[in-house]
Amino acid sequence: MTKRFPGVVANHDVHVTIKPGTVHALIGENGAGKSTLMKILYGVQRPDEGEILVDGRPVTFHSPTDAIKAGIGMVFQHFMLADNLTVLENVVLGAESLHGIGSAARAEIRRISDAYGFELDPDDLVEDLGVGQRQRVEILKVLYRGARTIILDEPTAVLVPQEVDALFANLRELRDTGHTLLFISHKLDEVLAIADDITVMRRGGDRRRGRPGDRDEEAAGRVDGRLRAAPRRRRRSRPSPRRRC
Ligand SMILES: Nc1ncnc2c1ncn2[C@@H]1O[C@H](COP(=O)(O)OP(=O)(O)O)[C@@H](O)[C@H]1O
Ligand SMILES: [Mg+2]
Repeated sequence: MTKRFPGVVANHDVHVTIKPGTVHALIGENGAGKSTLMKILYGVQRPDEGEILVDGRPVTFHSPTDAIKAGIGMVFQHFMLADNLTVLENVVLGAESLHGIGSAARAEIRRISDAYGFELDPDDLVEDLGVGQRQRVEILKVLYRGARTIILDEPTAVLVPQEVDALFANLRELRDTGHTLLFISHKLDEVLAIADDITVMRRGGDRRRGRPGDRDEEAAGRVDGRLRAAPRRRRRSRPSPRRRC
């Protein structure tokens, strides 16, 4: 995938493979192109070059509606909820054709909330909810629309540590029921705690891939000034076949 904006190449020939039923973390410093890549996958941005394959088949997304039809949903960094509406009203807005706006919709929201331990009441006003609860409404919204792959853009940035633990429990539950999670972060400790696979993005498009077990702080350490000071580990004598530069 390549995506240029005036004066900047946000994604330069980036290749990422995401395995179904995994939490795949995308880590990199601010401006590394993480959000742009995910917006392309969600049909918000059009790539200049490259293609998206879903289950091996090329797809073209003109809008998020196309991505949702392909089972891909996204929770943005800044929530898109209407505070003065209820959980139910927020969830069904724009998706009235699925289960209407009444009892069937309410039952489906309860079912999803119970299935993943979201503890959301369809009739609660969003303005009365805390940040973690609002985030769960956003996740519920994409599940309601049938998403099997969920992109979360820096979901922990707005959370306190206790809420991060709760979010990770939700993400594990979703993964264990066959969903695929794309988790964007710039915090290595979080990524190591939750991810099955990791893609490191760097400004200009260089990237490395690995798994949490690789503990490749040398690669990941470049993504975050805080981590640059982390002690270097001994280099592996053999390159992992899973990692390409
Ligand atoms: N809509 C846009 N118009 C112009 N430049 C953009 C736009 N979106 C992102 N960029 C630029 O592309 C680069 C990558 O941005 P982004 O994908 O948001 O990175 P990240 O999410 O990793 O912080 C940055 O230099 C950013 O300023
Ligand atoms: Mg971003």
